[in-house]
Amino acid sequence: MQRLIYTSSARYNLKPSHINDILGHARANNRNVGITGLLVFHEGVFLQVLEGEHSTLTQLYARIRRDWRHTDCKALLAEPVAARMFPDWTMAYRPGEALEAMQTRLLGDIMSVVGSCKSGEFEDHPMLNVYLRAFVTSVRMRDAA
Ligand SMILES: Cc1cc2nc3c(=O)[nH]c(=O)nc-3n(C[C@H](O)[C@H](O)[C@H](O)COP(=O)(O)O)c2cc1C
Repeated sequence: MQRLIYTSSARYNLKPSHINDILGHARANNRNVGITGLLVFHEGVFLQVLEGEHSTLTQLYARIRRDWRHTDCKALLAEPVAARMFPDWTMAYRPGEALEAMQTRLLGDIMSVVGSCKSGEFEDHPMLNVYLRAFVTSVRMRDAA
């Protein structure tokens, strides 16, 4: 089992209907191929957590990267995991408005590290790791409560 977290920038003309299309497709496909996760969309930025078998996830991420609806995909964290964080979610969705203040702050911290890091150095960045884990855990805890 593998987990991947990446961010990307939405195309400037992305409409709410595009997000609905993405989610509709993602949920149907992910159910079939055993992928679970979380998609966050805030101020033109996507952050997605994908969990599943390594080869399935690699193929899916390659497809996602080519999607015209976003650009500049950056993998922030890729790691083998013993268990899923989102076992019940084929693709949970959190728009920026649904985030708590602390989560929005963490997302800002994540994006400012990403902005200041050279591509390829994300996985070694100690604070990025902390922010990502805090953010993802807090979204998960909130929904479990
Ligand atoms: C931000 C973002 C997240 C996406 N997440 C998923 C996903 O979790 N699962 C999925 O199957 N497709 C996802 N997609 C859609 C894929 O990029 C792609 O459009 C879809 O898999 C269809 O691919 P195909 O046209 O090659 O069949 C996502 C697209 C974007 C822009």
